[in-house]
Amino acid sequence: MLDQINELRNLIKSFQIENENSLEEFRIKFLSKKGHINDLFEQFKLISGEEKREVGKQLNILRQETEAILESAKEKYEKKSNTQTQAFDNSLPVNAFKIGSLHPINLVKKEIIDIFNKIGFSVAYGPEIEDEWHNFSSLNFAENHPARDMQDTFFVNQDPQGNFALRTHTSSVQIRLMENERPPIRSLMPGRVYRNEAVSARSNCFFHQIEGLYIDENVSFADLKQTLYYFVSQFFGEREIRFRPSYFPFTEPSAEMDIFLGTATEQDYRLTKGTGWLEILGCGMVDPNVLINCKIDPEKYSGFAFGMGIDRITMLKYGIKDIRQMFENDLRFLQQF
Ligand code: PHE
Repeated sequence: MLDQINELRNLIKSFQIENENSLEEFRIKFLSKKGHINDLFEQFKLISGEEKREVGKQLNILRQETEAILESAKEKYEKKSNTQTQAFDNSLPVNAFKIGSLHPINLVKKEIIDIFNKIGFSVAYGPEIEDEWHNFSSLNFAENHPARDMQDTFFVNQDPQGNFALRTHTSSVQIRLMENERPPIRSLMPGRVYRNEAVSARSNCFFHQIEGLYIDENVSFADLKQTLYYFVSQFFGEREIRFRPSYFPFTEPSAEMDIFLGTATEQDYRLTKGTGWLEILGCGMVDPNVLINCKIDPEKYSGFAFGMGIDRITMLKYGIKDIRQMFENDLRFLQQF
């Protein structure tokens, strides 16, 4: 049988494959069920004893060799027919595929950033786990300020160097900026913040803020008002705004800003509790103590800061009634944006 195998090997090697037709011929003649190699395998079943081992080995080698010839011929001739029959245009556009959309909070965040970009504000980020210095002390919070209480703040662990907490506002990023950069500073600070509050349709234990900070020589409350008026006109359209005196430890004077929605629709009536006015943000002139904490000379520099909740503005813009819907990842909700 070994002779037969060698004869067949010679036959296979002398077979000329020149095109797709002879390729198929080759396959049928040698490798198909009824081909020569299978014939030998059939005969091989009948022999016994010592010869069987050697013949089996040689037969397997022959089959592998033949398959290898077939594969390399396939590559050659199938490729050839491809390039001959199909012109490939490199400049054709790829098939577009759907990659989802931005979350409504990100849409609004982007819109706000774009508006302030136009008047020279850059964007800065900071960590969500903050030390007490950046979240409270540097911002002029008194040692016993109620916001430091466990009821408002999620403390992360007790550390010998002080407590760490999930930041309760992005004002901590103001401090990081002022510690690391010299005026003029003109930046927005968007990010997620956390407060230990009861979860309801109107408030959540985490939400998103965007704060602004502007530090330079001769920055006044008039600059703050004009900047915010510009923002409102861009985001909400021409609307009346008003400032009410308020208190934040890190600004002096401090104010809250309302925009006028009116009471024409039921939603506006409900949102504004019948007054027509809706609070949008907190703001004020950066307290000199805060500047000193960041080694900025309050005799030379002044500045303003403001902060608003992105979630509430998003709800207002899209008429979302329950804040929790924004974090449930329900596709029926998300696909609307
Ligand atoms: N950090 C304040 C808050 O969380 C908002 C604020 C920012 C107020 C900047 C004044 C200036 O409510």
